[in-house]
Amino acid sequence: MSERRVDWISSPAGPLRGELRVPGDKSISHRAVMFASLADGVSRITGFLEGEDTRATARAFVEMGVRIEAPGASERIVHGVGLHGLRAPAVPVDCGNAGTGMRLLAGLLAGQQFDSTLIGDESLSRRPMRRVIEPLAQMGARIDSRPGGLPPLHVSGGQGLRGIDYTLPVASAQVKSAILLAGLYANGETRITEPHPTRDYTERMLATFGWPIEFGAGWARLTGGHRVRATDVVVPADFSSAAFFIVAATLVPGSELVLSSVGMNPRRTGLLQALRAMGADIWPANARELGGEPVADLVVRHAALHGIDVPVEIVADMIDEFPALFVAAAAASGTTRIRGAAELRDKESDRIAVMAQGLRALGIEVEEMPDGATIHGGQIGAGEVDSCGDHRCAMSLSVAGLVARDVVRIRDCANVATSFPDFVLLCNRSGFSIEEARG
Ligand code: S3P
Repeated sequence: MSERRVDWISSPAGPLRGELRVPGDKSISHRAVMFASLADGVSRITGFLEGEDTRATARAFVEMGVRIEAPGASERIVHGVGLHGLRAPAVPVDCGNAGTGMRLLAGLLAGQQFDSTLIGDESLSRRPMRRVIEPLAQMGARIDSRPGGLPPLHVSGGQGLRGIDYTLPVASAQVKSAILLAGLYANGETRITEPHPTRDYTERMLATFGWPIEFGAGWARLTGGHRVRATDVVVPADFSSAAFFIVAATLVPGSELVLSSVGMNPRRTGLLQALRAMGADIWPANARELGGEPVADLVVRHAALHGIDVPVEIVADMIDEFPALFVAAAAASGTTRIRGAAELRDKESDRIAVMAQGLRALGIEVEEMPDGATIHGGQIGAGEVDSCGDHRCAMSLSVAGLVARDVVRIRDCANVATSFPDFVLLCNRSGFSIEEARG
């Protein structure tokens, strides 16, 4: 989405100290705008992520006739139009870099009476959409794509959907959510079974917005034809954005950092388990609920890490945190093995390849497997690496620079604005040393 070419120069620095709050959760922000738009009445969202991805989703609903006010930063007032109140957008809906935006909207738009087209940036245009097209087609939807199930997606309206009983072939909260959103418009019951439980924000939020839904770990079911009732949503800080600081404070001697109000949904916090098994010192303080989600203030102190075999059962619970874990593993003593994580190859970039290449360029020995990698920890060296336009790889590689022997230049970092626009500012405030350079 970002046109600018920006490189970062991350230098050894630290320790990291103080307290900071990272921006609002991306997954929850996308969903909050969607459900508030479909609601009868006015909803207020606080803690909304002001990232390019979530703003693109909000813009999509504005184009479909929803009035959305932004009275302050990270705040939205959404004047819902009701389940059947959306209008045909005059232009293709641009989801930017956001897989969540495109996949969830595919399900939602499949239930409308009008035709629509979903487009995205270069990275999103390479990402697999067959995983949503197939189950939605089983529900009666008509979605045409480029060959290979690639975007743009042309969604034909007025199809008359029916509920399905669907077992997901891969663990994906986006696919699950697309089917549930189509299920709102379907006749009869929609049932979903997952191979591993994934984040359940769609299920929780539907319940908060008054839609009858039953769900548990790895399953969900609902029927179509109810109403979405407006409600206020408080978005916790994004665990995935906190992850870079968690790893950074763990790696730099003398660090003690507090990350406040971080979302602690158990389907998101697998990284904590992995890092603790590696020897990390991370404690949740003030555990409480915020907007129906568990949150805590995470206290992170420096600790020496050792390599582990990452348990396959926690892979889905840390799917977005592997770039950060690669860096933790590179700085740990011994070997870390990651397996059962083939999904990483279909994210904003092929994250196994990008992180393996980046760490190798910094002198770390990494072997790549189709579904993971083996990382031999050591001293991270200086050099130039390419994030390949992947926001999470860019931020993770800046953490590598923090503990490297000398300066690391990271290419192509502009897409960090999709999920964490103030990353560099917060980093430098807490003890990093990152300079932006025009590429
Ligand atoms: C997300 C689900 C995950 C995750 C993505 C956000 C969501 O994707 O990687 O960043 O908000 O539902 P998959 O469903 O493809 O695993």
